[in-house]
Amino acid sequence: MKSIMSLKPGPTSIASFHERIIRSMLGGEGEHSPEKRDDDVLSRDYHPRAMEVAIRTWRKRMIHEYESAAVFAQIVPQLMEGGATIDFKTTVLRCAMDELRHATLCSQVIEFLGDDPRTEVEIDLGQVPNHDDCSKRVGALRNLLFASLTETISMGLLTEERERVEEPYIARVLRRLAADESLHARVGWTYLAALHDDLSDEERQQLRDYMPVALGHLEAELLHAMPLGSGEKPPRQILDDLFALGFSEASRARRLMYQAIDEVVLSRLDAFGLQATDAWDERITVDLAH
Ligand SMILES: [Fe+2]
Ligand SMILES: [Fe+2]
Repeated sequence: MKSIMSLKPGPTSIASFHERIIRSMLGGEGEHSPEKRDDDVLSRDYHPRAMEVAIRTWRKRMIHEYESAAVFAQIVPQLMEGGATIDFKTTVLRCAMDELRHATLCSQVIEFLGDDPRTEVEIDLGQVPNHDDCSKRVGALRNLLFASLTETISMGLLTEERERVEEPYIARVLRRLAADESLHARVGWTYLAALHDDLSDEERQQLRDYMPVALGHLEAELLHAMPLGSGEKPPRQILDDLFALGFSEASRARRLMYQAIDEVVLSRLDAFGLQATDAWDERITVDLAH
């Protein structure tokens, strides 16, 4: 069922508690604070088409961040079932809070660009599978690793966007997103490293069996989240405006994505004996036409 994404604090005393969590725990204070200030206004005029695409793409990003919060939150009980140490549980909960904040930041960018961020979404709680063909700890590891693989690749795109962005306020937002996403990318790899030596041969096989499924989904989800969809390359002036407003260009983003899979993800997975390069060739393709 669809519901309106609610990203503004309510009128009770819990709102100040929420503010304190953001300020004291989630980072980015002072001049680097990514929250929008009253004097943050666009520094120049942009082509109307660029503004329209930028608003659409920031909205898409907002929904994606919101869904990511649900994903991390759902992994926590799986880590509990799988017997993970407490640091992974608190850190993954923190990742969920980061994603809620990211969604809020994206909604503020939409306001900054002059549009209403209120959006209806359907939260798909089936995004985090309960793997019943493996041990509980491998099930949790599969899901946390998958979340971190998507973050590992998003990091490359964010770096590119940060290099080109010109609006100072959007630069502050991208800086915060990149800082948080690097933790999100790290947590799954670290969990894999922490657990790996302790896994039985059977559990290692369960992890290997997951690779063709994971890599197929990874490709589909990342393509689905690409900026600007798969349309034609826009004219130079509009493209420059979009870079200034915090986006990469779709075909370049796709290239960076495949490069990161090839140079970073597969080789790191292979180093754990997960035969990911072979699994990539045999990946199970998924159509995410939603
Ligand atoms: Fe995020
Ligand atoms: Fe993230």
